[in-house]
Amino acid sequence: MQFLMLWHRMTSQQAPLVARTVAELKSHLDQLRIKRAGAPVVFVPTMGALHDGHRALMTRASQYNGISVASIFVNPTQFGPNEDLAKYPRTWEADLQLCADEGINVVFAPTVDQMYGDNPESTLSAGPLGARLEGAQRPGHFDGVVTVVAKLFDMVHPDRAIFGQKDAQQVAVIRSMVRDLELPIEIEAFPTVRDSDGLAMSSRNVYLSHTEREQALAIPRALVAADQAGSEGVQAVLEAATNELAGEPEMHVRYVELVRPDTLEPVPANFHGDALLLIAAMVGTARLIDNSMVTVG
Ligand code: PAF
Repeated sequence: MQFLMLWHRMTSQQAPLVARTVAELKSHLDQLRIKRAGAPVVFVPTMGALHDGHRALMTRASQYNGISVASIFVNPTQFGPNEDLAKYPRTWEADLQLCADEGINVVFAPTVDQMYGDNPESTLSAGPLGARLEGAQRPGHFDGVVTVVAKLFDMVHPDRAIFGQKDAQQVAVIRSMVRDLELPIEIEAFPTVRDSDGLAMSSRNVYLSHTEREQALAIPRALVAADQAGSEGVQAVLEAATNELAGEPEMHVRYVELVRPDTLEPVPANFHGDALLLIAAMVGTARLIDNSMVTVG
């Protein structure tokens, strides 16, 4: 049965159309829009180094039976000067195969020059929402994200775009950009996909040695401990997470915050309801982030 399903998948999926330039992208999309008039365009923006978390986003995109588009672009403007732009994993062949396996219709993989041209002067600001948490520690990061996502949206004109909930602040910032610019695009956040040991999937996990990966598991454990402490209130939730992380002294915790899911403002001490617990930590050279919803009170 499994063989039959695999065979069906292999024979029914067509290789995606690949666009390296904006003109190629527009031509592929125009053709598909003519062939499949009225079909929704569903978009998954990525920086490549695709893993099963991305696979889940692509599967989801294909389920809309529309025109599915994925972008693969390592966006330089969202990396700080001392971050991992140069060594960010690039795995083009495997990425294209994954897109083909998941039935993606168009893969847009532009060069930096295609995206930014010569010395662009205008950029978008992610505003105060982009200046907190990740933004406070990675200045300019979310300005780079909203700028590239707005440009990609303008090139692809999707009806819907799908992002991983692992990057919760990124989702919040993009939702706010879409609202403020009144873009007619539905933003869908897809639940975090975890490896069997509980670690949230991330392209940066390849930086972890075996020992560092063991240390990193304190993060999902902290989320579970926090969830279990939910009924005891805000302070107990934060302590449960912090204590679990403290058990791994080699890990450098960057923040542990319990925030309102929409505004990402810290919740007050007497808060009752659903709050988002956000964790960031350095394990070796890898910056890892994770989050989960906690029902408090
Ligand atoms: O989440 C990512 O991979 C990137 O931040 C995104 C949204 C593709 C923008 O470069």
